[in-house]
Amino acid sequence: MLDLSRQYLPLHEELVAAVAHVLETRQFILGEPVAAFEREAAAELGVAHAVGCSSGTDALWLALASAGIGPGTAVITTPFSFFASVSCILRADAAPLLADIDATTFNLDPARVETVLNGPRGANVRAILPVHLYGQCADWDSFSMMARERGLALIEDAAQAWGAQWKGLKAGGLGDVAAFSFYPTKNLSAAGDAGMVTTNSDELAERARMLRQHGMRRRYYHDEVGWNTRMDGFQGAILSVKLKYIVRWNAARRAVAERYHELFRAAGLAEAGPYPTFGVVLPHEVPDTRHVWHQYVIRTARRDALRDFLASRNIGSEIYYPVPLHMQQALKGLGYAEGSFPEAERAAREVLALPIFPELREDEQQTVVRAIAEFLS
Ligand SMILES: Cc1ncc(COP(=O)(O)O)c(C=O)c1O
Repeated sequence: MLDLSRQYLPLHEELVAAVAHVLETRQFILGEPVAAFEREAAAELGVAHAVGCSSGTDALWLALASAGIGPGTAVITTPFSFFASVSCILRADAAPLLADIDATTFNLDPARVETVLNGPRGANVRAILPVHLYGQCADWDSFSMMARERGLALIEDAAQAWGAQWKGLKAGGLGDVAAFSFYPTKNLSAAGDAGMVTTNSDELAERARMLRQHGMRRRYYHDEVGWNTRMDGFQGAILSVKLKYIVRWNAARRAVAERYHELFRAAGLAEAGPYPTFGVVLPHEVPDTRHVWHQYVIRTARRDALRDFLASRNIGSEIYYPVPLHMQQALKGLGYAEGSFPEAERAAREVLALPIFPELREDEQQTVVRAIAEFLS
């Protein structure tokens, strides 16, 4: 599914030198390695501020808390994402409200968000938290118009979307504040847990910096109850090295995705969708946007049997995500039930992520597509 050694081996010397420098200078927590990465990351994304922290999950919580989301407020997000997209709202002591997804992009559907805003709990909503799922930006034209008209904050879950663009604007600078994850499988990845908050607001950035260090602006003077969610120096140093290659890596991911499209079409397996019948529905890139293909996710009717078949051929695949968030045991208290979000539930039964990473070879992709063709025949 993912061979990280192909990324690591060519960078071995650079990465070891960066780690050695942290050991020699003993800047283990924050310090210059993290500050340097924050400056470089902000410049790369074209945002005023980047605030390094200890994970994407913490970045989401910091983003919400910095934006003043707390008790008595509600935030709308998607039921089809990683757990943290909803749990961060609960951690901020706010109420998550869910809206169904678009069947083609798997991203939060603005029309369904509008329905929630007009519903009985809409008055408490202070923010919308769209997820740029699989590396493709959510429909930012619609969400920014909605936020402007209703005075809501927009918080991006950009955990899977380093380098993605919506009509020329980069993820991380689209909303009021954004959260990135550098978990080792992400397209820009650390050697452990790490995350980042980005924003163009001086005030939000200042609050995020304060909250990531137990609410301290001055050492041992605590203005608010924050948390310990700092980025460590090793991760900052490693991310600075990898940041130099991310444009190249994302371009390579796009080439891999294009090759999958071509191979599936040439094999006569691609069908229009949004729902599968005989073959595979290929992932769709919204025009005028830039998908970074964190995942290449097909839709197919006999998904679980296909996955078993691929496993029997030693071909990795993954399901992001098998259980929609409203059906997770831990989130039963939200009050939703099976049937609440039919698109998310159907996607959870049909999606399958295929191997994709910058160094994936064409012959390997051919093997994947040939195996799928064999299964479907
Ligand atoms: C969409 C989404 N949000 C949030 C997160 C949380 O990031 P982390 O694992 O770094 O805490 C992830 C990553 O796993 C994710 O994919």
